[in-house]
Amino acid sequence: MSVHSSIHDLAQHVGQTVTVHAWLQDKSGKGKIQFLKLRDGSGFVQATVFKTDVPETVFEQARRLTQEQAVTVTGEVRADERAPGGVELSLRDLTVISENHGEYPITPKEHGIEFLMDHRHVWLRHRRPWAIMRVRDSVQRAVVDFFHGEGFIRFDAPFFTPNAAEGTTELFEIDLFGEDKAYLSQTGQLHAEAGAFAFGKVYTFGPTFRAEKSKTRRHLLEFWMIEPEVVPSNHTENMALQERFVSFLVRRVLDECQEELKILGRDQSKLAGAAEGNYPRVTYTDALDIIRKHIEDRDLPANVQEDVQPVEWGDDLGAPHETILGHHFDRPVIIERYPAAIKAFYMQPDPQDPRVALCDDMIAPEGYGEIIGGSERIHDYDLLKSRIEHEGLPLEAFEWYLDLRKTGSMPHAGFGMGLERVIAWITGIDHIREAIPFPRMLTRMRP
Ligand code: 4AD
Ligand code: MG
Repeated sequence: MSVHSSIHDLAQHVGQTVTVHAWLQDKSGKGKIQFLKLRDGSGFVQATVFKTDVPETVFEQARRLTQEQAVTVTGEVRADERAPGGVELSLRDLTVISENHGEYPITPKEHGIEFLMDHRHVWLRHRRPWAIMRVRDSVQRAVVDFFHGEGFIRFDAPFFTPNAAEGTTELFEIDLFGEDKAYLSQTGQLHAEAGAFAFGKVYTFGPTFRAEKSKTRRHLLEFWMIEPEVVPSNHTENMALQERFVSFLVRRVLDECQEELKILGRDQSKLAGAAEGNYPRVTYTDALDIIRKHIEDRDLPANVQEDVQPVEWGDDLGAPHETILGHHFDRPVIIERYPAAIKAFYMQPDPQDPRVALCDDMIAPEGYGEIIGGSERIHDYDLLKSRIEHEGLPLEAFEWYLDLRKTGSMPHAGFGMGLERVIAWITGIDHIREAIPFPRMLTRMRP
């Protein structure tokens, strides 16, 4: 008699005979022995087939298996410290579930990234995407647990919206039968603010869309954002919440995803500071000095070009500047109080210095750039109205948003974290496209 088991659970069955449904990843061996590398989605295991242990037909079948063939195998679970998952299977029986049609496109040899992305629908079966997607799942569950633990409720913002909230250049416009303009949402924030006035603490968690026309390692057209919003709150509390949140996520992955991080070869010591907390807070103005000093001293991270220029006060930070800042610290750094003129219309001006906004970006270490953008929101009706007009945004579309300030307005704050940026950073991969199952980019709409 044999029991059914997933590969993940095999370690609980050492010494027993088990049956597993799996796919053949790769195979090696010759003469009297075959090694079958199997996967079933839950994990990976090697099955050893000795010619002397199995009927001739079974050995022949094992020899003829092709890559990604679906099989049912029965075998004895043996502990083996060197094996991934700590176990191996001694194969006793094998049945083929289905014959393959033609050759599986991704052979065990090296392929270029574009080839792999063209075959993303099957590439997902391989170890590296397997590990990254499992980290993604772990982070997604951690997000929900964190906010639940802090007394938030999840609040879903619409994907179709009348509002441009993060600038008009990166908007996807939708044809709504010739009616009023509608866009794919760049952010759930404005609707989350309505939710926060109803529930106090809310967070959105869903896809957002930006018509990014440049190709970078950090930008997707469709990415997932987590946007908490708190009434009442302020800039200082907002930064503290961000730090608690991000350190919680990193701790969870370190706790839950050891196998995945090992597959990815992630240097986990680089995540130690992020897991701990105590993220440095630097004003935009002071950050410019840090950047200037690094440029003057020619103390630049490897992926920053030699001809990088310092930032003039009032200009936004570019990717190389964020990379320099990211390398300056051993954990995420919070850059606060940017010039109001380069930030969104809804940000509360600093009462001490109205040239800057009560906002912040969190920059990840190791060149991963901005993972969070957040701010205190303008709560005064007249000020918000004048900011909307000043930006040339259509008042009609923002009437409902202004309404929130007409009755019971209070200082409040929130932020948005880009899920894929965080996954890319935590897993240590060099491009955001691998942080989502099916990336959508300027040059990639398929599969
Ligand atoms: O800084 P952003 O534009 O902020 C907002 O949208 C605010 N409404 C958030 C809020 O306060 N509720 O975007 C927030 C985060 C960025 O820090 C980045 O991590 C991510 O979203 N992000 C992207 N991720 C992938 N691809 C893109 N094209 C992204 N654009 C922004
Ligand atoms: Mg931003």
